[in-house]
Amino acid sequence: MKKIALAYSGGLDTSVILAWLRETYGVPVVAFVADVGQNEDLAAIHEKALATGASDVVLTDVREEFIRDYVFPALAANAVYEGAYLLGTALARPVIAKALVTAARATGCDAVAHGATGKGNDQVRFELAVAALAPDLRVIAPWREWSFAGRQDLLLYAEKHGILVPVTPDKPYSIDANAVHISYEGGILEDPWQPPPPGMFRWTTDPEQAPDEPAFVDVTFEAGRPTALDGELLSPVQLLERANALGARHGVGRVDIVENRFTGLKSRGVYETPGLTLLMQAHRAVESITLDREVAHFKEALALKFAELVYNGFWFAPEMELLRATIAQTQWNVTGTARLKLYKGAVQVVGRKSPAGLYDAAAVSFETRTQIAPADAGGFIAVQGMRLRRQTRPVG
Ligand code: ARG
Repeated sequence: MKKIALAYSGGLDTSVILAWLRETYGVPVVAFVADVGQNEDLAAIHEKALATGASDVVLTDVREEFIRDYVFPALAANAVYEGAYLLGTALARPVIAKALVTAARATGCDAVAHGATGKGNDQVRFELAVAALAPDLRVIAPWREWSFAGRQDLLLYAEKHGILVPVTPDKPYSIDANAVHISYEGGILEDPWQPPPPGMFRWTTDPEQAPDEPAFVDVTFEAGRPTALDGELLSPVQLLERANALGARHGVGRVDIVENRFTGLKSRGVYETPGLTLLMQAHRAVESITLDREVAHFKEALALKFAELVYNGFWFAPEMELLRATIAQTQWNVTGTARLKLYKGAVQVVGRKSPAGLYDAAAVSFETRTQIAPADAGGFIAVQGMRLRRQTRPVG
């Protein structure tokens, strides 16, 4: 091995890993930092990487790519894992892995390393992405190699190697933040009966404390992609930021679940996903007036598959390419606007319209007799009922 590119966050784990890699393998280590909208002091992280012994630091802003090529396709699919999790971390891993590979190539590395532990999904996602994008690169997962058992061992090692650890007593849970969500797991959350401690949520207003006045927002989609809020055209990054700010203010997008990890463990996860939560409701509302019924129903099944493949780390797998292309093909007519009402944590659709809608008020109206001739409706039901009349379940 000549040189290792490490996916570095500036936290305790990856700082220890940086020093440990140099000590264990005796090669230079490039610290790679992806800006996925985690809202941290990236200059400070850069400094810290150098101070911890990185030979180089590569910082890549992948926010636009993340939202445009990963988050919005998942939105088009209405992808939700186990009925609740909008996949904020799972969607970010492949884009980080891709940028890590690019950084490794640019700096002459023949190996990549990550700080994901041996029990979680993230190790799978990183490594399956690297397998698909750069099978020649060696992957090092220190958490599966070293003998440190947990935090206490890391702190000791950090102290011995003069690695800066945050002076504030560290939060009692593991956090992953990006432009889509903040996730919390571990520590006191490991007891699934215990509610999240007060003050844990860093982003969204507690719904009980949210404004007493509701907010309304119009979300416009063009061919399945959100393009404007309240009629103002916005870039993907701007649009999600704006949706996040609005949702967060009104306490939208908190979720508390026990989920099934790909590795087989059940894990308690708490999420706040303000913007994507409201965008997804708006997207479904626009789909409700623009999608053919059979396409819509078929898509429901694909949404489950999409979520599962993202969650399990198969973003760059051939079946996922097929699925993404199929979802994209369903969206050509998903153009229109949904009006949402946000109030104390709840999102309600209160209006939807489309220039290309399939909804026909005159056809469905209670006030007219057009479109379906009464004899046709009667015949339709008679034929549907034929089978049932042959095997009745008499009542009374
Ligand atoms: N349970 C979620 C997932 O698997 C969130 C993981 C958060 N990762 C982390 N390293 N804290 O997608």
